[in-house]
Amino acid sequence: MGREFLEIFEEWADSYDDTVAEDSENEYSEVFKGYRSILNRVAELSNGHVLEFGSGTGNLTEILMKKGHNITAIEPSEAMREIARKKLAGKVPILDGDFLHFPAVDSIHTIVSTYAFHHLTDQEKEIAIAKYAKLLKPGGKVVFGDTMYPSKEAYEQAIKEAKSSGCLALAKDLQSEYYSTIPFLQMILEKNGFSVTFKRWNKFVWIMDSIKR
Ligand SMILES: C[S@@+](CC[C@H](N)C(=O)[O-])C[C@H]1O[C@@H](n2cnc3c(N)ncnc32)[C@H](O)[C@@H]1O
Repeated sequence: MGREFLEIFEEWADSYDDTVAEDSENEYSEVFKGYRSILNRVAELSNGHVLEFGSGTGNLTEILMKKGHNITAIEPSEAMREIARKKLAGKVPILDGDFLHFPAVDSIHTIVSTYAFHHLTDQEKEIAIAKYAKLLKPGGKVVFGDTMYPSKEAYEQAIKEAKSSGCLALAKDLQSEYYSTIPFLQMILEKNGFSVTFKRWNKFVWIMDSIKR
């Protein structure tokens, strides 16, 4: 499991960068509002050798690369990997894998991801965080930017608002993908030895900044 949304990304890959452009008007405009600032902030919070999950067309990867990080990117969609390889001129390894199954990597200092962790169920997220806790030494970080909600009520309210404003594709996504609550994410991180803070970046996206104690 965890790869059940792959077909969407195989089809979306070619137009993905148009969707996330700041001047793009679509149902997802609010989700991608401040997209570049979100990616920049995740990069600012990163250090050392960075492992990136769900790297897509390589936008965060490119920012990290320009900052001089050693990066290993993991992406399950072949179409996305191809676009990213061209964008990064083959300078970063972009490997086939996903949040739960990925090639062995050594000496990771920071694990990052943007707009992707919601493809795992809460149960899978808990397995992933336990895995990352084993991979990181004290001081190691997990920094994820993604849609998340302060409470279940806030999540339900977001679905209602998407429906009432005619954003039916967005409403469907919110209902079919696995958006977590912040208390749940905090619980699984703390249970695995991390300290964590959450900061909101737009109506949907928060950055979860955690450090292994
Ligand atoms: C909305 S895109 C985000 C891409 C990029 N991180 C960004 O911020 O623009 C979600 C990405 O997650 C990938 N993805 C889907 N399921 C995944 C999984 N189980 N593990 C890792 N990545 C996954 C998709 O193929 C896609 O490239």
